Amino acid sequence: MGNTPFWPESASNWAQGVDALYIFLVLVSVVMCVLIFGAVAFLSVKFRRKPGVQPTAIEGSHFLEITWSVLPMFFFFAFFLGGALIFFHERTPPQDASEIYVVAKQWMWKMEHPEGPREINTLHVPLGKDVKLIMTSMDVIHSFYVPAFRIKQDVLPGRYTIMWFRATQPGTYHLFCAEYCGTQHSGMIGSIIVQPEAEYQTWLNGGSSSVPLAQTGEKAFAELGCASCHRSDTQGRGPLLAGIYGRPVALEDGRSVMVDENYLRESILDPGAKVVAGFRPVMPTFQGIISEEQLAALVAYVKSLTPSSGQAAGAAPAKAEKGPPQMKSGRSR
Ligand code: CUA
Repeated sequence: MGNTPFWPESASNWAQGVDALYIFLVLVSVVMCVLIFGAVAFLSVKFRRKPGVQPTAIEGSHFLEITWSVLPMFFFFAFFLGGALIFFHERTPPQDASEIYVVAKQWMWKMEHPEGPREINTLHVPLGKDVKLIMTSMDVIHSFYVPAFRIKQDVLPGRYTIMWFRATQPGTYHLFCAEYCGTQHSGMIGSIIVQPEAEYQTWLNGGSSSVPLAQTGEKAFAELGCASCHRSDTQGRGPLLAGIYGRPVALEDGRSVMVDENYLRESILDPGAKVVAGFRPVMPTFQGIISEEQLAALVAYVKSLTPSSGQAAGAAPAKAEKGPPQMKSGRSR
């Protein structure tokens, strides 16, 4: 579709599927439109009032009714299936995707690469590599929209929304805010720059001496005193964090929750919301104390911790298991 007039450029793995679905929808709509209006025109001429002809009542037809109910149903299911397949694929980022934190605010986009570089209203991405966006807003609802990639995702204050893509064409592409967010909404634009891997690496290394995000998080972790509880030798005041990301964890109230970016975020800002089984809600909140950037760094740091890396060394597993998950069923209901 690349050179079709009026058609947006296609530069990501989503373009083909989204375009195919769109074309299918348009084709079915056009065919239905022609059929219906054609039938209206034809029948109104054929059955027009004629002198001396008395109209006769027509009884219902099961054959007709079933046909025009069942046939469209298959088309609607096809729309649904096509949409759902793309939707679920879009919401399931590959495990090894490189993770970029996006913070939106009136009226700019801030991007943070895991390797450290930060950008405003510009995002460099490597060609052919999976990129996962972890996005949040500092004020109102914005929407991250890259037409050439066929991606659009609302960016909300107070939580992370996730989106991923793989750029397939080098070049520079428009980034828009697609949710009205105030007087300068239309100026909240930027560019996505897709570079071949080598060029991208050069760009990454060429910036100022930037510290990897997880390392910034490690520093904040120490400065904020997180380590005084989240350690293996502190009588289990706080759960150990190594290796928790991407796994389900049992909660004090019997539920279980998947440890993802949003759970980590909530546990830092509102620690009492979902307390891990076997622990008491003693952690203070960091709401209003840390910035979105620090929060992103902390989340990136916790995600970077593996059972074998630093934090959980030694007697960790035994303590982490302290207080068997209390799966009392009756209480919470
Ligand atoms: Cu941000 Cu519109």
